[in-house]
Amino acid sequence: SRADHVRIVEVGPRDGLQNEKQSIPLATKIELVERLAKTGLTTIEAGSFVSPKWVPQMANSAEILQHVLSRPPQSRHPMTYQWLLPNVKGFDNFLSMWQSQAQSQSPSAQDAYPTPPPSPQTDNGPALNTSSADPNAMPSASSGAEAMASRPIHELSIFTAATESFTQKNTNCSIAESLQRFEPIMSKAKEMDMNVRAYISVALGCPYEGPDVDPHKVAELAVSLLEMGADEISVADTTGMGTAPKTLELLKTLNAAGVDKSDLALHLHDTYGQALVNAVVALEHGIRTFDAAVAGLGGCPFSPGATGNVATEDLVHCFHSLGVRTGVDIEKLAEVGDWISKELGRANDSRAGKATLAQ
Ligand code: HMG
Ligand code: MG
Repeated sequence: SRADHVRIVEVGPRDGLQNEKQSIPLATKIELVERLAKTGLTTIEAGSFVSPKWVPQMANSAEILQHVLSRPPQSRHPMTYQWLLPNVKGFDNFLSMWQSQAQSQSPSAQDAYPTPPPSPQTDNGPALNTSSADPNAMPSASSGAEAMASRPIHELSIFTAATESFTQKNTNCSIAESLQRFEPIMSKAKEMDMNVRAYISVALGCPYEGPDVDPHKVAELAVSLLEMGADEISVADTTGMGTAPKTLELLKTLNAAGVDKSDLALHLHDTYGQALVNAVVALEHGIRTFDAAVAGLGGCPFSPGATGNVATEDLVHCFHSLGVRTGVDIEKLAEVGDWISKELGRANDSRAGKATLAQ
């Protein structure tokens, strides 16, 4: 059936910024999240709890979480924030900020916070999961209608890869070990009623093993991650080596292995300028969730030569031209892209963003 609506996961504040060499002020990172929340985007990956030795730029993600928890960015829509983490250490760092925010809130708001795992309980209050019975009581300084709109949901994202070489470079472990690391994260997240999305990197080409990554390996990993309890698989073209036929082949292989289209997202980097073509192929195939970064920011520090994510402005422009709704106000988004590009002192990599502003 034809798509009439897609969900865009804005990864600019995480994937977009993680590879920037100069240290970006915390205030700029927070402002980026706040500006993005006002464009109609509903899902933002806002930071990562990874080793600061490996990715120094993300070292202050706990402070971004603190800000989002204590002063949820204003938006017209309910927001979902995602937090990337590779291991239990990252989860614990996430949780300690979560709990310290719980303690600094009023007693009634405190009740809304989950207690630390592994104590079994179901009354986890805060808006972690859309399917939660009581996705309420996210602490908020404000109340009333504004608080209604500003009560976010929080989700975790974990990541592994389709090749051993990339997994080693990115997370210093084998693919099998990466899955083992996810087990305790998954069970703790489930106790807190949090959704978990799982990335599979280098699904359409690897910087170390070349462009021909076995789609069956991607499918096998996707099945394992879903069996472990992942709520969504984001299939990532880390290197931008994906082409239209390869993208279609991969999606068909995933379906043949029993992976439902509705459990998939596509995360495209635009190194070879093929991201939009691949996105449209995926849309036609039935994919309805796409990752993108404003101004085409982004890149993985462990994928040499790869450039940014598909620009959110370009994706939004493309989908709107096909009559597919995104909920995003392209003009507002283009302004955010222009602003962050200037803040970072880099060229705006979104063609549609620049053209929209030039009109
Ligand atoms: P390691 O060095 O093997 O870790 O790194 P370790 O377990 O041996 O611990 C060494 C030290 O790191 C210890 O500290 C740990 O506490 C600390 P010390 O005792 O020496 O003081 N440590 C941590 N600190 C903070 N947060 C943590 C953490 N874990 C350990 N979570 C590790 C292994 C996985 C931690 C490391 O390789 C790492 O952080 N990798 C992350 C790499 C990364 O962030 N890559 C970019 C994101 S993925 C991406 O961009 C792809 C994506 O966009 C999709 C796509 O496009 O493909 C998602
Ligand atoms: Mg990426």
